[in-house]
Amino acid sequence: MEISFDIHRTCNSIKIDACRNKRSIAFAKLFLHEHPAQNCAWLTEIYVSPKFRGRGIGSKVLLQANGIVSDLALPAFLYAHSSELPQRILLRFYAKHGWTQLNNLFYGVKPNYMYYLPEGVQKDALSPVFQGFIRSMYNV
Ligand SMILES: CC(C)(COP(=O)(O)OP(=O)(O)OC[C@H]1O[C@@H](n2cnc3c(N)ncnc32)[C@H](O)[C@@H]1OP(=O)(O)O)[C@@H](O)C(=O)NCCC(=O)NCCS
Repeated sequence: MEISFDIHRTCNSIKIDACRNKRSIAFAKLFLHEHPAQNCAWLTEIYVSPKFRGRGIGSKVLLQANGIVSDLALPAFLYAHSSELPQRILLRFYAKHGWTQLNNLFYGVKPNYMYYLPEGVQKDALSPVFQGFIRSMYNV
């Protein structure tokens, strides 16, 4: 299926729309977060219209998001939770596209948190200070 991507930027967010015949059928949102320890991006939403699911569109949208954070050279994070998909499928979906569960890195953090490190961004970017930020902001 032929789809095109529209990218909408504000000063602190980026929305990716996947369009078919000029209508959006899927989207993802990145929130750009400034933090003294490390600027980063949060993938706050990814959504494919139900009748278009299971055809690789979510993967394409996620790869667009990966490409954007790679261009920005920022580490990215997300909280994997869906009322519509089993958790193991959701985690596998992200893992297949280069995302890693944070609990492999930070002892005690809920397994729903995942990160994506673009090439060239060092793991040091996920500093203890930043870990503290995640803990305080999300109460984990
Ligand atoms: C998660 C979501 C974006 C995936 O979009 P998609 O277009 O269906 O994704 P893809 O077609 O690229 O497939 C992703 C993988 O999930 C699997 N999958 C998707 N829906 C599935 C389902 N209901 N049951 C089993 N597997 C499923 C696919 O088989 C595929 O795995 P594979 O590559 O190993 O075969 C979409 O299901 C969605 O919008 N869900 C509702 C919103 C949501 O839960 N967002 C995530 C919030 S963290």
